[in-house]
Amino acid sequence: MCGIVGYIGRREAAPIILESLRKLEYRGYDSAGIAVLNGEGVAVHRCLGKLNNLEKLLSAKPLAGSRGIGHTRWATHGKPSEINAHPHQAGSVVVVHNGIIENYLELKEYLLGKGARFESETDTEIVAHLVDDKVRQGADFLTAVQKSLKEIQGSYALVFMNLNDPERLIVAKNSTPIVLGSGNGETLIASDIPALLDHTRKVTFLEDGEIAEVKAGGFRVMDGNGKAISRPIKEITWDAVAAQKGGYRHFMLKEIHEQPRTITDTFRGRISLKEGAVALEGVPLTVAQMRRVKKIHLVACGTAWHAALVGKFMLEEIARIPAEVDYGSEFRYRSPLVDRDSLLLLISQSGETADTLAAVETARKKKAKVISICNVVDSTIARKSDGVFYTHAGPEISVASTKAFTSQLTAMYLLAIGLGRLNGRLPKTEAKTLLEDTMHLPTWVEDALKLDTEIESLARDVCHAADFLYLGRGINYPIALEGALKLKEISYIHAEGYPAGEMKHGPIALIDEKVPVVVLLPRDRNFQKTLSNLKEVESRGGKILAITNRRDETIDRIAFRTLVVPEASHFLTPIVLTIPLQLLAYYVAIERGTDVDQPRNLAKSVTVE
Ligand code: AGP
Repeated sequence: MCGIVGYIGRREAAPIILESLRKLEYRGYDSAGIAVLNGEGVAVHRCLGKLNNLEKLLSAKPLAGSRGIGHTRWATHGKPSEINAHPHQAGSVVVVHNGIIENYLELKEYLLGKGARFESETDTEIVAHLVDDKVRQGADFLTAVQKSLKEIQGSYALVFMNLNDPERLIVAKNSTPIVLGSGNGETLIASDIPALLDHTRKVTFLEDGEIAEVKAGGFRVMDGNGKAISRPIKEITWDAVAAQKGGYRHFMLKEIHEQPRTITDTFRGRISLKEGAVALEGVPLTVAQMRRVKKIHLVACGTAWHAALVGKFMLEEIARIPAEVDYGSEFRYRSPLVDRDSLLLLISQSGETADTLAAVETARKKKAKVISICNVVDSTIARKSDGVFYTHAGPEISVASTKAFTSQLTAMYLLAIGLGRLNGRLPKTEAKTLLEDTMHLPTWVEDALKLDTEIESLARDVCHAADFLYLGRGINYPIALEGALKLKEISYIHAEGYPAGEMKHGPIALIDEKVPVVVLLPRDRNFQKTLSNLKEVESRGGKILAITNRRDETIDRIAFRTLVVPEASHFLTPIVLTIPLQLLAYYVAIERGTDVDQPRNLAKSVTVE
């Protein structure tokens, strides 16, 4: 999630933009930049690292002018660097962008064919050239943007300036938030409300497909064809901290509710339904190399380890590749049977977890290739891997991982399909079906999130328990583990996850009316067996919370509460079942008054052994 700020008005733009970007720092970023129209053209500062570096550049060489745009970059395409930092310029057009341009490669080919020269690795720079190309052909600035947007596929919040048209900024929105702030003789533009609150509380949110022509005295909103749209100006009453959470009480709840978008961003631009193919950009494995792989060793920690457990099912059932899973902290001290015919797959949100990183050394010694699934571009694990398949979940602020986890599962699913196609063991027809299922995933997750209020109420019934048991089977057993971990780490209640079939081998001794038992039982091949486990729990007085995907009177008769999530495809059901477990952990923690975003004893990234 990048940070965008634009300003047009009667005051100096640079200091306003810099301070407004600081209000977006919570989103995380790796580089920054600012461009100001100064009457003779445009002056630009860009830097790697934090806004203090940009401030130093501005102190050394101030940028004068009352029209400007600024940006804090969270890298997706192209590593963090000054050259990849925004704003990007082509001819008279300067632009900042948040989002992912899916068809940037074909647009780049087209523009190269027209003689364009690119300096960065970003998808954003292509947009600047696309608009400038039309301006050079005589198109009005706004028209050039409108025409260019029709050629772009993907998610974007874009703010354009034109050196030769300094009285307006053009803003465009699709799938990525952007908000306008109405001031006194000035208008501001930002990715999120916190950047506006020092200057105005009058805000207007653009909707997908809308364009705004923004001037000092105001703005007009239109659709892609220029048809005027009326958008109400809202008054924001939040304080700055609440605004950073998008109005949610905690970052964790905000990030739970971001998941339809972050899952979409993770698969966006990587799927060809027609070809039944997955673009494994960043994973440089050839067909020959993939066909030689005898086993994949997945290595991760904590929540990422749960993603790895689900990944094993996906790799073995979709790509038909043997897979085994290790904790990073265990893998580094055993003598795994890894050799040149092995492939290591590391999963890490931060890309900095020491125990996971240590697996790289083992791989190098044993001549095995390493690929990783990371959420932070150019993180240590990403840099040390032979290839990286990034999740695009954006910065995850809350220590308890939620959106990164479901993005890891999404990435794992795509990787399994891609590797299965690469090694020839996944037929194209099967791959097409699996990829078509992906298109439904954001809606399934959106519908599961509608359980929020019901779970908030349910949490009050169980928040005083001292112990919880979570049960699941098959590909959903790791989700039981994840649900237990979520509860443990933010509510401090002891919780254990078990394979449902394992309960009778010991944990059943824990069952009594004081122990809530959360049971995952979607309508799959394990349903009947898990239902019989439910009856075992009920006959011992256990308090059952059943999570299923089809209403069932037998379940209703046995369980004290039943939650019903959307029925999803087999491999994507783990993601959908995760949602109520995240919400349950969150609302129980709220009832217990713990520090949800920064739980005691925990760190967001464990960079030590
Ligand atoms: C997740 O809720 C935990 N905070 C923790 O288990 C985390 O998943 C683990 O430390 C691994 O972190 P990574 O994904 O950044 O490697």
